[in-house]
Amino acid sequence: MKILIAGSKGMLAADLIKEFEGICEIIGRDIHDFDICDKKRVIDEINKVKPDCVINCAAYTHVDNCETEKNLAFAVNGEGVRNLALACKETGSLLCHVSTDFVFDGKKGIPYLETDSVNPLSVYGMSKLEGENNIQEILEDYLIVRTSWLFGRAGKNFVETISGLSKEREVLEVVNDQTGTPTFTVDLARAIKALIDVSARGVYHVCNSGICTWFDFACKICDLTGGTARVNPVSSEAYIRPAVRPGFSVMDCRKFKNKTGLILQPWEDALKEYLNQQ
Ligand SMILES: NC(=O)c1ccc[n+]([C@@H]2O[C@H](COP(=O)([O-])OP(=O)(O)OC[C@H]3O[C@@H](n4cnc5c(N)ncnc54)[C@H](OP(=O)(O)O)[C@@H]3O)[C@@H](O)[C@H]2O)c1
Repeated sequence: MKILIAGSKGMLAADLIKEFEGICEIIGRDIHDFDICDKKRVIDEINKVKPDCVINCAAYTHVDNCETEKNLAFAVNGEGVRNLALACKETGSLLCHVSTDFVFDGKKGIPYLETDSVNPLSVYGMSKLEGENNIQEILEDYLIVRTSWLFGRAGKNFVETISGLSKEREVLEVVNDQTGTPTFTVDLARAIKALIDVSARGVYHVCNSGICTWFDFACKICDLTGGTARVNPVSSEAYIRPAVRPGFSVMDCRKFKNKTGLILQPWEDALKEYLNQQ
């Protein structure tokens, strides 16, 4: 099987490459040689490589910057994904695309199913939703994996930020009214491989097990890394950021479990595994 990974220098992509290494032929492409906004380049390259599957990890992921860089967010997360879908349609390649819990408004109060209505609150969420919609408009066969709160070795992430700051500062203020599920990119990469292996098609929610707030997550990181800062819970109102985040974006991963037989490990165990392998 030949797989082209777009956005191959990103955090999730690094673990996907490891997951498929030695099993499949992997072709990694990132913005410098495969800008997904460049329609001609995308179509030419996919026609040349003729991959069985394109896994799209390329995205404009700076959630707050998306508010001021709206055109860029939609160009990459919306139009860029459209280009990939058009190219995959020509070659008959499976498009496996990674999306986000930020397509939801967080008002449901119980975990979101794949069939629940979407209503993104931020430009990032809207642009990611446009990417999903473009795929569904162009392709009959696709795999969209929505995930949340990623941490992995190949990227700047919340775990690194908190473990660093908790050794430099006396007090950290972290929001306690946004609930979700941290997800380890190694676990997600395994899950994506499992979905491809069983020929899953459609939309799937995939996260580690369990739920927490960013405050809970920060406390656990400090516990495990010996951070000395006191962590104080604050509300989103007290900690204003450019992009509005959903209050409760936990996703129900039952469909993934039913299809693959897998349940990803609890986020606390995933965090320990991540820290032990540093
Ligand atoms: N991180 C999270 O918490 C999170 C949560 C839910 C879903 N997701 C989704 O999961 C996927 C992977 O996330 P990640 O955190 O691993 O992303 P990431 O580390 O930010 O990697 C994205 C990669 O895409 C590249 N890229 C940006 N614009 C591009 C373009 N026009 N053409 C080609 N490549 C481009 C980036 O290059 P530069 O670095 O040079 O810009 C980077 O190498 C994304 O679809 C994201 O939306 C992430």
